Amino acid sequence: MKQDNRIEWQETLCVEQHPGPFQMVIFGASGDLARRKLFPSLLALHQRGLLADQTRILGCARQPFTDESFRAHLAEGLSGEPPAQVAAFLNLVFYQTVDYAQADTYQSLARRLEGLDACQGTCLPRLYYLAVPATLYPDITRELHSAGLLQEPGEKSWRHVVFEKPFGFDLAGARQLDRLLHLYLQEKQIYRIDHYLGKETVQNIFLLRFANVMFEPIWNAHYIDNIQITAAEAIGVENRAGYFDQAGILRDMFQNHMLEMLSLVAMECPSTFAADAVRDEKLKLLRSVRPLLPASGPAGIIRGQYDGYCREPGVGSDSQTETFAALRLHIDNMRWKGVPFYLRAGKKLARKSTSIHVVFKHVPHSIFPNIAAGDLQQDVLHLRIQPAEGMGLTLQAKKAGPKLCMGALTLNYQYQDSGEKPLDAYARLLLDCSLVDQTLFIRSDIILAAWELYQPVLDWWKSQPQDSPLVPYAPGSDGPVQAEALLVAAGRQWL
Ligand code: BG6
Repeated sequence: MKQDNRIEWQETLCVEQHPGPFQMVIFGASGDLARRKLFPSLLALHQRGLLADQTRILGCARQPFTDESFRAHLAEGLSGEPPAQVAAFLNLVFYQTVDYAQADTYQSLARRLEGLDACQGTCLPRLYYLAVPATLYPDITRELHSAGLLQEPGEKSWRHVVFEKPFGFDLAGARQLDRLLHLYLQEKQIYRIDHYLGKETVQNIFLLRFANVMFEPIWNAHYIDNIQITAAEAIGVENRAGYFDQAGILRDMFQNHMLEMLSLVAMECPSTFAADAVRDEKLKLLRSVRPLLPASGPAGIIRGQYDGYCREPGVGSDSQTETFAALRLHIDNMRWKGVPFYLRAGKKLARKSTSIHVVFKHVPHSIFPNIAAGDLQQDVLHLRIQPAEGMGLTLQAKKAGPKLCMGALTLNYQYQDSGEKPLDAYARLLLDCSLVDQTLFIRSDIILAAWELYQPVLDWWKSQPQDSPLVPYAPGSDGPVQAEALLVAAGRQWL
């Protein structure tokens, strides 16, 4: 039992598996994702003893680094960490210059990987991480296949490939990519990453819902009034206009992160905590979401753009790309019939905050003088995904004192109070890759179900833009006022 001033934490189960050695090939190793997320996460795993000593990491990119100059380049980015630990970690790192479209590249890669394998053969399992633009996925996967680099020499010598989003640009593109990947890979070899699933607080939804008895009986339309999911960012498009101006927030945040959070909060309890059992339930849930565009029109979808977006470097002066979206959706199943789910995400908003609010119904009757049941505040479970990761439960309670004085009391838990520094989402997901656990990775049918949901909205925005005007909002605000109206009309408000 571990104790501090604020919380008492009694561990009941703690599974930390140590992966065996493997080879990891990072394509795009000199890029932003590798520098900001992948290498720091691998270092964090090494520091915790979760990377075996015989593990080898081969960075690949077009730049002409040597092993030594690449290590020096990485060391700069890791300068905040203890130098001895960085040096020990960098001993595992090597570099190879590549030209992604050239078959020769993959022959040399094969030789290099053989040389780095402690068995001088093909015994170590291998993870290829594609931290490159999605347009390169087909070429790289095909060439890896042609060079025999995806063939699994034995059950334990697996060959797995990690793909970053976007998984297609639209439904047709996603289907095409899916067909192509399955020409060369089996689904069990494909790890589609959504870093939101690696966040501690997102994973905590599983435990909160399925390891406690108190929530399940009330986790339904009888007791829940509405659920709100918000992913607000203070930053704008930054230096990613080339990608973002094509994508927009619906593709960038809703098609993946928002739907993943929705699935975890709303899905049925899986039969076991195993990859396919969990993913089957998510798929079932997505298939129960009512089409977003009923014949009556898209009354429940708002799209906005922050003032000044069209003047951002790399953005067209008449860009119609949405930087904000809010929508109301319904899930047509026994559990959720009639409960609205409100989702919103946007850039250049007042603050960075990702949250899920579960808003319970009013008590059916008030016994208290001068206050009707409908005037009592609703209980709210607040899952703070980030920042200040944690959760709060707001209940009605009596304030100390002689009179009847009632108010909202919030029971609060913050992860930082437990004294544990959570692993970064990428570290957690890389660890799962090395342990061959696909639970937190997105299966092909789930990607396609997500696209099926949003494609009609994208088509409609494109074909009838006059029916869904892009509404402006001020940078630093809470988004367009129209998003407030989504809830206000039903006597609710965003929390
Ligand atoms: C990425 C999006 O997937 O998630 C970005 O492409 C967004 O546009 C980012 O900024 C948000 O992630 P996080 O972890 O900072 O909430």
